[in-house]
Amino acid sequence: MKRVLFLLTCNLITSYVFSQKTIVEGSNGKSWTIATQSTVYQLSVENDEVRMVHYGHKTQSERQGRPLGAEIPVRGGYVNATPLLEVIFPDGVRDIELTYQSHEIVNVDGYETLKITQTDKYYPLEVVSFITAIPEYDLIEKWVEVRNTGKKGAIKVENLMSGAVFLPKDAYELTHYPGVWGREFTPYTTLLTPGTKTIQVKDFKSYGSSSFMVRPEGETDPYNGKVWFGSIKYSGNWRLDFDKSFNGALQIAGGLNFWDQELNLKPSASFATPHIVFGYTEQGTEGVTHRLTSYIREKLLPPAHRDQIRPVLYNSWYATTFNVNEEHQLALAKTAKEIGVEMFVIDDGWFKGRVNDRAGLGDWTVDTNKFPNGLQPMIEKINALGLDFGIWIEPEMVNPNSDLYRAHPDWVFHFPNRQRHEGRNQLIINLAREDVWQFLYQSFQKLLKENNIKFIKWDMNKAMTDPGFPSAPTDEQRAVRIKYVENLYRLIETLRKEFPEVWFENCSSGGGRIDMAMASRFDFNWVSDNTDPVDRIFIQDSYLTLFPANTMISWVTHEDPHRQNPPLDFKFDVCMAGVLGVGYDITKWTEAEKDIAKERITRYKEIRQTVQNGTPYRLVSPYLNNRSVLQFVNREKSESIVFVYNLAEYPNNMTSETKRSSAVQFRGLEPAAQYTVEGLEGAFSGEYLMKTGIEIPLRGAYKSRIIKIQLRETL
Ligand code: DGJ
Repeated sequence: MKRVLFLLTCNLITSYVFSQKTIVEGSNGKSWTIATQSTVYQLSVENDEVRMVHYGHKTQSERQGRPLGAEIPVRGGYVNATPLLEVIFPDGVRDIELTYQSHEIVNVDGYETLKITQTDKYYPLEVVSFITAIPEYDLIEKWVEVRNTGKKGAIKVENLMSGAVFLPKDAYELTHYPGVWGREFTPYTTLLTPGTKTIQVKDFKSYGSSSFMVRPEGETDPYNGKVWFGSIKYSGNWRLDFDKSFNGALQIAGGLNFWDQELNLKPSASFATPHIVFGYTEQGTEGVTHRLTSYIREKLLPPAHRDQIRPVLYNSWYATTFNVNEEHQLALAKTAKEIGVEMFVIDDGWFKGRVNDRAGLGDWTVDTNKFPNGLQPMIEKINALGLDFGIWIEPEMVNPNSDLYRAHPDWVFHFPNRQRHEGRNQLIINLAREDVWQFLYQSFQKLLKENNIKFIKWDMNKAMTDPGFPSAPTDEQRAVRIKYVENLYRLIETLRKEFPEVWFENCSSGGGRIDMAMASRFDFNWVSDNTDPVDRIFIQDSYLTLFPANTMISWVTHEDPHRQNPPLDFKFDVCMAGVLGVGYDITKWTEAEKDIAKERITRYKEIRQTVQNGTPYRLVSPYLNNRSVLQFVNREKSESIVFVYNLAEYPNNMTSETKRSSAVQFRGLEPAAQYTVEGLEGAFSGEYLMKTGIEIPLRGAYKSRIIKIQLRETL
């Protein structure tokens, strides 16, 4: 107990240090140092131009170098960087010349923020750039606000990104996480050669988020080495440019993707971009993981449930698909309760006309053929079992075969004289329209008011096509994508505010729309429709590099006849590294299967506090070995949970003489403290466990083990 108190005190002292001043102004009043715990971002004004000087480790800033580039690179003059801002003034002039006007330090969400105002030398264009320091996570956040300060004529914005940083001359490698349905978050590393490498989303589907890491070429040590990293807080069209000049410097610019997009800023109108997050660490990819995942878990997740333990879920999708009815759902719920589930979620298929994926989307009232008594009587029975109830919705879509589409065919995105492109037999509803927003808000407000729903799974299954809004004024038509995303956020936020006790899960055909903007509005992500435990180990390894475990829902599901079928307890162990769910038709389970489920769920409840809120360590990567080892350590360093998954008979490609598991060195423990290791006699110092490590005698393919390491109480 004493030890725990000591460790807690250390944490408090560190937080006190963090709360000190983060933005320091130079003596000339025209230069700034924005400091986080171990990084600085420096900028200065020279000849009335705001320039970035340095971004990296604190100590490197002591020798001030030459500015690396403009804080807001624009189209105009010599174009030696990727512009963040490109406009056309009413008289057709396309170049911008920005000059510094003023600055102030403001408070944004409790953090010091440098606000710098620049204006065009001649035209009525004001450009305000914001840089917030988030010191305890070594992050900065940037965004830009532009305003037409003129009295007549609109300024056409052809490109406006959120922010950029310049890195000094070096050879760099980029790691990013693209994906596709079923193979979300696939890590790729590539050398950045002179030219621009762009990663982008044009259709609102990304399957891997905009998170990236840039490291000096050849640096692969997971625990040491410089890494610049970041992510865009946006869920629509986003874009990141890695612009490598021939002389070696690198510019990273990101924000909205103005592909098929433009804004016309009328007099007095302004527009603020989404935020881009940048970070820097010298602790390798592990340093990135710790900063990003703690920031998301501690600051970004919706406050209503931020600190709450996530429930064990049941989801009906793989058990029933569209074939849902009260009797079977109740039978599933009864078994779910028996095995220890806490939240029962009915997926697709419950609403009017939804017999298959060709009908029903848009008609958000219960299908009385399937639920003659409505939903609430069934929910009451499920509640009486001791389970909370959740439900699936897909607000942004409509099937042409629906009452909604028949009544409002103009409510979908479309172009006149052009084919409407269906995907999964559905079209995208034009959320840029206020009447559509009102309809959706009222439909889901009613659903939540009339039924005791505690969980919403919010799906989005079709990529953006035909983004036409023919009845909108012509000069607003190319802003529909932006408006859509604004209204999407407003819809989620309004419903959350009105129903604060409801949990929200983000889904888009699996993990098609996972990002930091969604992380601030949803409690969890459905990471992939691919629930094969072996594939899932890879997807989860990447996901947990960027997002916290308490946002990662994983279900134990049916066998795929074309794949290896690991035993049920292995499947459970894979899903227990996040928020555990079950997706089987559990009414068909044998008593023996139910016993395994009960035992694993009981075990999960015992360890989930540390898994969901602990610091993650990826000890053995499945991408480099035939084994995956994950570790979570709680804040007090008094408990650690280790997951070991073997993917082959001899996990480390060992020879026949050494067919045994090699030692695993743990991380994040207190070196001087004594720990017990589940399954082993005696106690070990934290230092021993981290330096020498222990062998985990787990043999054979598709075998798994969960090990608890606990601080030994001092007497
Ligand atoms: C796609 C999701 O990823 C699945 O989990 C499921 O909810 C289906 N949609 C339902 O249509």
